[in-house]
Amino acid sequence: MHILGTGSYAPERILTNHDLEAMVATSDTWIRERTGIRERRIAAEGEVTSDMAVAAALKALAMAETDAADLDAIIVATISPDMPMPACAAIVQAKLGAHKAFAFDLSAACAGSLYGMTIADQFIRTGSAKRILVIGAELLSRLVDWTDRNTCILFGDAAGALVLGPSPDPDRGLLSAHLHTDGTMVPSLCIPGGGSRHPQSAEVLEHSLHKIAMNGREVYKFAVRVLPEALNEAFAANGVVAGDIDHIVSHQANLRIVESVLDRVGIPMEKCWLNLDRYGNTSSASLPISLDEANRAGRLKPGDLVAMMAIGAGMAWGSALMRW
Ligand code: UT7
Repeated sequence: MHILGTGSYAPERILTNHDLEAMVATSDTWIRERTGIRERRIAAEGEVTSDMAVAAALKALAMAETDAADLDAIIVATISPDMPMPACAAIVQAKLGAHKAFAFDLSAACAGSLYGMTIADQFIRTGSAKRILVIGAELLSRLVDWTDRNTCILFGDAAGALVLGPSPDPDRGLLSAHLHTDGTMVPSLCIPGGGSRHPQSAEVLEHSLHKIAMNGREVYKFAVRVLPEALNEAFAANGVVAGDIDHIVSHQANLRIVESVLDRVGIPMEKCWLNLDRYGNTSSASLPISLDEANRAGRLKPGDLVAMMAIGAGMAWGSALMRW
């Protein structure tokens, strides 16, 4: 499987750290020093997740010179769909006119696009699909408790999309992917209400159980432990070492997490495409947006070895190695 096209979209409205100073007890300095984030994008009123997904998808389809009608499948990785049922992917399918494609959502939070890419790879390898659109789209500003400074400073809205198909060259494309989950970490990062455990109710609203709840320190410690393991797993599976890697494309939740992980595996930060200063943590959108930006900037040259990593609620995480 190879990436035939990339696309991304971020809403116009910018919310800066200084804007947040007026909303919660925080400071631009604290946010920059602890996370690396300067600003994030916020969806317009009336704009929904599928709108952002479609905007990113159209760019990826144009680059891949693929007609939406020729898509075999659409996978939307999201924790913030337009509505609980049906899948956001079904809405995207209709908006794109991709009538041949089966479409479903995938819930693996910030690791969603990596999971989606890996699933798409299986369909493409077996020959049962030739063109799959994988989208990471998140409208987190509507899932954030804007009175909770532990979380509201981190997240942003955006979408990224990848058009995947068989590799035109057997030496290029996805070499391997390595997915993991540790469900014992669920309490550390979740949206406790709005599902079968705590259906929508006045109590859920009163206690903000329908908003993101996170123990940041636990998530941080977990991430800097398992991500180096996942990267090393990908290197070992392909007989390469850290020095062979040309680029790192990573989910971006916190600059310090990326720095610590790359330091542990021995890859210089210059090899990593960074954009969380501009977008914050956009969950499943983060990885495909980074791929799209690095790709459009001409950073990824044919034959380059690209390592990817992502981690999010679940905890769900993984790595992948691709020969661009
Ligand atoms: O996409 C995957 C999901 N999420 C993540 O990967 C997030 C992982 N975690 C993190 O990125 C970091 O843990 C945070 C950025 C969330 C927090 O940074 P930290 O260095 O772990 O800070 P902390 O939670 O240990 O808090 C340190 C202090 C506390 O004050 P005291 O108890 O030392 O007096 C917090 O109350 O900073 C305080 N604090 C803040 N101060 C100003 C927490 N949030 C803020 C804030 N502004 N926004």
